Amino acid sequence: MNDLAGRRAIVSGAARGIGRAIAARLVAGGARVAIADVDADGAATAAAELGNGCLGIACDVRSMADVTAAVAAATDTFGGLDLLVNNAGIEIAKPVVDLTDTEFTRILDINVVGTFRFTKAAVPALAAAGGAAIVNMASVAGTAGGPLLSSYCASKGAVIRFTESAAIELRPAGIRVNAVCPGIVATEMADRLAGPIEAIAPIPFDELIALKQGRFGTPTDVAETVAFLASDDAHFITGSHYMVDGGLTANLF
Ligand SMILES: NC(=O)c1ccc[n+]([C@@H]2O[C@H](COP(=O)([O-])OP(=O)(O)OC[C@H]3O[C@@H](n4cnc5c(N)ncnc54)[C@H](O)[C@@H]3O)[C@@H](O)[C@H]2O)c1
Repeated sequence: MNDLAGRRAIVSGAARGIGRAIAARLVAGGARVAIADVDADGAATAAAELGNGCLGIACDVRSMADVTAAVAAATDTFGGLDLLVNNAGIEIAKPVVDLTDTEFTRILDINVVGTFRFTKAAVPALAAAGGAAIVNMASVAGTAGGPLLSSYCASKGAVIRFTESAAIELRPAGIRVNAVCPGIVATEMADRLAGPIEAIAPIPFDELIALKQGRFGTPTDVAETVAFLASDDAHFITGSHYMVDGGLTANLF
């Protein structure tokens, strides 16, 4: 596996979960990866474990200063930047009537504006590299709504529309921009969602997932699609969003 040899990448939110698996897959493909995460210790540990010159960077995507510094650190260390994966994201499961203004805004700030901040900061370096790519982490929740998930669904829908807009704008700069839409993936986020969803669903969470998508997705399932979109094999693909959901969104029943 050498599909990303020499690529220089940043993955946000890569201290654990899907982001960690993406960083590992990029390294396996030959890339050097900067792991930018609000969990500074987790980012440092992941970078040390992955090796291959990986860099752990403390970075809160709510801060333009943090994001700008992260891009500068990665670009300086690696000598340029070919790939940005906007993976950092959070969820909240609450009915609309109970959600506070602050909670709703926090979801948008991290999931949507964080994606915008990293994109804005990274574009000059990505354009200079030539043939660069951005992959944004959307979700099946960006293609349809769901109870308790209004803020999360709104944020992931916005990520898809942002992806399309940026793809067209950045095409002349040789930067492809795509999104990935995972179904339910076995991470801490899915663990947090199980209780609230089970409380309103007619069947246990595990059975619901088996019914809807066959099994839980794995972080590796998602990482493989990100690696494809980052690679030259996807050179004519931009402005797309890829379902990685075991058929969840393809099924009427
Ligand atoms: N797990 C799922 O079922 C699922 C499904 C579809 C999409 N996603 C998306 O995949 C991405 C990763 O989710 P996950 O399941 O690995 O979640 P997770 O909670 O296991 O990990 C999220 C990571 O993001 C980091 N993070 C959180 N806030 C941050 C901030 N402000 N700045 C920088 N880093 C921050 C965390 O420290 C953590 O390392 C998210 O965008 C999520 O919305 C997850």
